[in-house]
Order: sequence, then C-alpha cells, then structure tokens
Amino acid sequence: MKFKKVITLAMAAVLGAALLTGCGSSNDTQEAPAEGDTTAAVESTVPTVTEGKLIMATNAYFPPYEYYENNEIVGIDAEIAGAIADKLGLEVEIQDMEFDSIITAVATGKADIGLAGMTVTPERAKNINFSDTYATGIQSVIVTEDSDIQSIDDLAGKKIGVQLSTTGDIKASEQFGEENVEKFNKGNDAVMALSQGKIDAVIIDNQPALSYVASTAGLKILDTQYAEEEYAACISKDNDALLEAVNGALAELKEDGTIQSILDKYIVAE
Ligand code: ARG
Repeated sequence: MKFKKVITLAMAAVLGAALLTGCGSSNDTQEAPAEGDTTAAVESTVPTVTEGKLIMATNAYFPPYEYYENNEIVGIDAEIAGAIADKLGLEVEIQDMEFDSIITAVATGKADIGLAGMTVTPERAKNINFSDTYATGIQSVIVTEDSDIQSIDDLAGKKIGVQLSTTGDIKASEQFGEENVEKFNKGNDAVMALSQGKIDAVIIDNQPALSYVASTAGLKILDTQYAEEEYAACISKDNDALLEAVNGALAELKEDGTIQSILDKYIVAE
C-alpha cells in the first residue's frame, strides 16, 4: 500500500514538472504585454504577403510623394508607410514599378499596399479597397512660359502629355479625345517632352507640377485648377484585416499630428 502511494507521488511529480516546463516555454514566446505598455505589441498579427514586412508598391517619379534621393525612395508616401508600419510592427519594403501596375500588384498579392499619391476613383475601387484618405491633390496644367494656352478650354486640339493611367490621363482623354493625349510612363518624361516643344501641355497633380516647374527652366503652371482629388492607400480586397489595421494607424497618425507634419515637411506652398 505504502509503496503504491510513493509511485503515485513520483508520477505526479514527473507530470507536474512536465506541465511546468510546458508552461515555461509557451511563456517565452508569447509574453503578455505589461499593462499600459503600448509599445509591447511589436510582434505583428496583421497578415501580409511576407511575414513581418509591409511591401509598398509605388511609382517613384512623383515628387514630393515619392522620388529618388541618393538611390533611395523618399517622400511623403514613404514616410507615411514607415509610420504605419511602425504602428503595426512591420518593416517597409518599397517596390518601384509603373504606375499602371500598382493596382494589379496589390490585387494579385505581390504587394501589400499601394501608396502612390493615388486618387480614389470608383473605377479603381472595383479592383482594390481604398484606405481612408490622407491628402488631397489638384490636377494642374503645365505649359511653356511663352505659351498662348491660358485656360482649360484653350487645350482643345492641342497635344497634351500625361502619365499613363493616371487621373490626368483619364480626364484629359475623356475631355479632349485620346488622339490628343500623349501617354508617358513617367511624369518626368511628359515634362521633358513639353520643355523640348514636342507637346503643348502636361496635365499632372499640383505638387509634382510645382516640383517639375521649379526644376525645369521655361515652364509655368496655369492659374486654373482642372480637378480636385483625394489620395488614399490601396489594399487587396482579400485583406480586410490589413485595411482595418491601416485605417486604425492612419487615424492615430492624423490625431497625433504625424501626417500633417510629414505633409508640411514636403509640401511646397503654391
Ligand atoms: N493622383 C494621380 C492618380 O491617382 C496620379 C498619381 C501618380 N502617382 C505616381 N506615384 N506616379 O492617378
């Protein structure tokens, strides 16, 4: 009788030790954040294409939203992506591509988020979800300083340059006819063609317009606004968790002034 009891106790001890070890190791990997410590939630629970990364698709020829500086892509969108990623415990990886490819990259799961000064349109929203908006843009018209074009109406019958698949392209093609619109892969190329006298005007968002006019001699922006738009990030329709997380992060970043200070750092007064 006594012997049997010893064995039972020994077994209980072994079992207890095993349970303790089990508990110990699971504690190591899933440490509960200390109460009130918001920075403890670093390990991300948001599903992304590659674990731990936030892959951002953009077209880095759109200053000041995204452009190259010493071989690195910088600008408003890069900084906003960084701020969002910090909140979500992710690391940003930027992929530069044609503007025309961004929505497909996001929709087909090659990138997590498109951030490209991208205007919210109902047509685009058929293929991807848009986040809450974080900035506004205006379509501007650039002409040469000696141009006789003074208003939008004067553009009729002229050669208008745009970046392929942008809202500038879509609107100009609708209003002035495809045959009058020359589509370039990069905004820079359209501006270059204008300064070389190959086309008569460029329709592009106001901030890149200001940036290009400042860096190219002999150009000016018409004192007329073609269209007002809102910029947002695009995210796959299959990743609602990421959409929610990004909107949550954006709300916090608006609230604490981060978004405004990023915009102020880059935006040129008109
Ligand atoms: N806002 C315009 C659009 O959505 C132009 C955006 C171009 N962005 C860029 N990164 N090249 O169509």
